[in-house]
Amino acid sequence: MLLHRSLAYVLAIIFLHILKRVQSAETVLKTALGDHPFNTFQEVNKPCQEGCLLHGNCNHELGVCECPFGLSGPTCQTQLYPACRTLFTSGAQRIYLGRTAPRNCYCYLQLVKGLCLPDDESRCAFHTMQLWDSLYCFKRKDTPEEQQLSDLPEKIDDPAYEWGRCTTSRTLTTMQKHVGPIDQLPTIEDISKSVPLSRCKARCYEQGVCQDWGGQTRCLCFGGYKGDDCSVSEVAAESLCPDNCGARGKCIAGFCKCDAPYWGLGCSRSKAYEPVPGSVAYPYFPSLKIYVYDVPPNVVGTHQFEDGDINVFFNYQSFMRFEEMLLHDINGVRTENPYEANLFYIPAFAYYSTSNLGDPTGAVIRAVNWVASTFPFFNRTGGKDHFILISADRGACYLKRVPQTEHLIRVTHFGYERQNITDMGQLLHNTEYGCFKAGRDVVMSPYFKAKVAKIQDLRTRLEQPGGLEAFIAKKDVLFFFSGDIRHNEPEYSGGVRQALSLLLSNNSYPDVVFKGGYMMLGGHEYEDLLARSKFCMAPYGHGFGIRLTHALMHACVPVIIQDKVRQPFEDILHYPDFSIRVSKAELPRLVEMLRAVPQEDLVRMTKENSRIYRAFIWQPELGGLAYNFTLASLWRRVSHLRGELYEAGVRR
Ligand SMILES: *[C@@H]1O[C@H](CO)[C@@H](O)[C@H](O)[C@H]1NC(C)=O
Ligand SMILES: *[C@@H]1O[C@H](CO)[C@@H](O)[C@H](O)[C@H]1NC(C)=O
Ligand SMILES: *[C@@H]1O[C@H](CO)[C@@H](O)[C@H](O)[C@H]1NC(C)=O
Ligand SMILES: *[C@@H]1O[C@H](CO)[C@@H](O)[C@H](O)[C@H]1NC(C)=O
Repeated sequence: MLLHRSLAYVLAIIFLHILKRVQSAETVLKTALGDHPFNTFQEVNKPCQEGCLLHGNCNHELGVCECPFGLSGPTCQTQLYPACRTLFTSGAQRIYLGRTAPRNCYCYLQLVKGLCLPDDESRCAFHTMQLWDSLYCFKRKDTPEEQQLSDLPEKIDDPAYEWGRCTTSRTLTTMQKHVGPIDQLPTIEDISKSVPLSRCKARCYEQGVCQDWGGQTRCLCFGGYKGDDCSVSEVAAESLCPDNCGARGKCIAGFCKCDAPYWGLGCSRSKAYEPVPGSVAYPYFPSLKIYVYDVPPNVVGTHQFEDGDINVFFNYQSFMRFEEMLLHDINGVRTENPYEANLFYIPAFAYYSTSNLGDPTGAVIRAVNWVASTFPFFNRTGGKDHFILISADRGACYLKRVPQTEHLIRVTHFGYERQNITDMGQLLHNTEYGCFKAGRDVVMSPYFKAKVAKIQDLRTRLEQPGGLEAFIAKKDVLFFFSGDIRHNEPEYSGGVRQALSLLLSNNSYPDVVFKGGYMMLGGHEYEDLLARSKFCMAPYGHGFGIRLTHALMHACVPVIIQDKVRQPFEDILHYPDFSIRVSKAELPRLVEMLRAVPQEDLVRMTKENSRIYRAFIWQPELGGLAYNFTLASLWRRVSHLRGELYEAGVRR
C-alpha cells in the first residue's frame, strides 16, 4: 500500500514535470508567433564624425569611419605605425610593409604589435611579416620613438644611427619577434641598394624605394604605383581592390576610397538594417542569404600594402572571382541585413597569407575576433554559419584549430581528409581530419585561366551532330601526363607522380605519353596532347591540383589519383559519370585498366565531361558555373545546419 502511494506520488511529479515542459514550449511558441512582429526591420543610418570622408568612408551600419591601412580614429587622423613613415606630415601618409628596403627598427616593432597575435608573433595578418627574419633595420640614436622615421640615413655608417636586425625566438608554444643589435654594418647590396628618398625624383612620391644602381638612382614603386617618380596610380590593376571598388570609388593602394554614401568591401554597401524594437529576427529560410562582413583594412587587408610583387598567382584567384560575383549578386543571394542572413562571409584575405603553402591562421583569427566582437552573429553558433575562402595550395591545412576557427566553414580547393598527416610539416596541427572536414567544409574548383577562343572552338565542334564521336575517334593517345615529378619530395602528389614515373618512364607502350617536367600550358603541345588523349592523369601537387580542370577543358576523361582527397563539388556532381578514380595501390595495373574501358563507356564519360566542365570554370563568358556550384554546396551545408542552429538559439 505504501509502495503504491509513493509510486503514484512519483508518477504525479513526473506528469507535472512533463506538463510544465509542454506548457513552457507552448508559451515559447506563443510568444514567438503571437505577441511579436515577425522579421520586421528598419533601416539604420548611423553618422560618422565630420571629416571622416577626407581619408576614409563612413560605415553607416556601425557609425564608424573606415580608414586606409595604417590610419585610424574618427577622421583617420591617427598614425598606427608612425615610425614606418618616411616624412613628418600633419596629414595622412600611407605606409607599407615589406622587405625591399630596410625600415626603422621601431617601425617593425610597431607593426608586430599591431598586426601579429599577442601570444604568437609568427602568426600575423600579413604574409610578408612571416618572412621578416634577418631583415636589417636602423634607428636614430638618442631620439624618442615618436620622432623616428623610416627614411634611410645618407650613409650606412652615419654615427647618428645604429643598425639592427629582426630575429625570432621560439619556445614550445610561443614565438616572439625581436630587433637585436648587429656587429657588422650591412652593405648596400644587403639593403637592396636602397638610399634616402631625397636622392630620387620627387622622393618617389613617398610611394616607392629609392635605389642606387652604381651612381644612377631610380624609384622602385610600391604595388599600385608606377612611373619614374611613382606618381601614377595603377587603377587598371584589377587585383588591387575588391571588385575594383565596384565603379563607386577609387582604388588607392588597395583601399577603396568610396564615393559617398557607399562603404564596405568593394564600396558595395549603401544600406543597413536592424529589427524594429520587439521584432523577432528569424533567418530567411527558403533560400541562401549571405551577409558579407566589411572587415576593416587594419584588421586584415589585401597585400597591396606590401611593397613587392602584388599580383595574386592566377590559380589562386577564385576568391577574387567569388567576391566579385557576390558583390554584383546576379543570383540574389546577398543581403545587407545580417538579421535575415543564414550564412555569413568573412573576407579574411587568407589567400595570400597562405601564398603558396604558408599559414593563414593569423589573418583568420584577427578577422574572426573583429567579427565576433562587433556583431552578435558569430557567437550564437560558434561560427558554424560563417565561411572563409582559402584559395591557395594547401588551403586550410595549416589553419590552426582554436575556438575562433573550430567551426568555420572552410571553402578551399584542397579536400585532403586524412587523420594524422605527418608528412606536411610542423604547421599541420590537425590530426583529426587533416585539411578538410566532411559535413563542414566545401571544395570549390580552382581558378583556371581558360583561353576563351580555344575552349569555345572545341565546344562548338563537340556540339555538332557526330562531333563528339569524330573527336573521340581521332584520339590516338590512351593516357597522358606531363608535369613536375619531384623525386626528392615524397609527399608531393602523395607519391603518385613519382611512382608512375618509375613505372612509365621507360615503358614500351606506344600510346602512353608520360613526360616529367613542366610543359607550358600556353604551348600548343600540352593542350594538343590533352585533346588527343582518351585519359589524362589528375594527381594533386603540393596542395590542390589543376589537372582535373585541364583534362575536362580539353574533353579528356580525367583519371583522378588522389587517395582521400575530396574533389570540387563532389557532394553535387556525380564523378563516375565523367571521370575515373584509381587508387595509388592500383598504379601497377593502370595502363591495363584504362585499356580495358569499353568504348561506349569512354564515349559516355567524354560526353558527360563536355557537359560538366562548366562547373570548373569561373568566367561567366565561358558559361562558368563555378560560382553557382560553390553557392549550391554552401546552401547544402547551411540547410543541414538548421536543426542544430535552432538548438543553439538562432531562432529566437
Ligand atoms: C547562376 O545562377 C544564376 C541564378 O540562378 C543564373 O542567373 C546564372 O545564369 C547562373 N550562371 C550560369 C553561368 O548559368
Ligand atoms: C563573443 O565571444 C568572444 C569570446 O568569448 C567575446 O570576446 C566577444 O565579446 C563576444 N561578442 C559579443 C558580441 O558579445
Ligand atoms: C591518430 O593518432 C592518434 C593519437 O596518436 C591515435 O589515437 C589514432 O589511432 C590515430 N589515427 C589513425 C587513423 O591512425
Ligand atoms: C630509363 O632508361 C634510361 C636509359 O636506359 C636510364 O638511364 C634510366 O635510369 C631509366 N629510368 C628508370 C626510371 O628506370
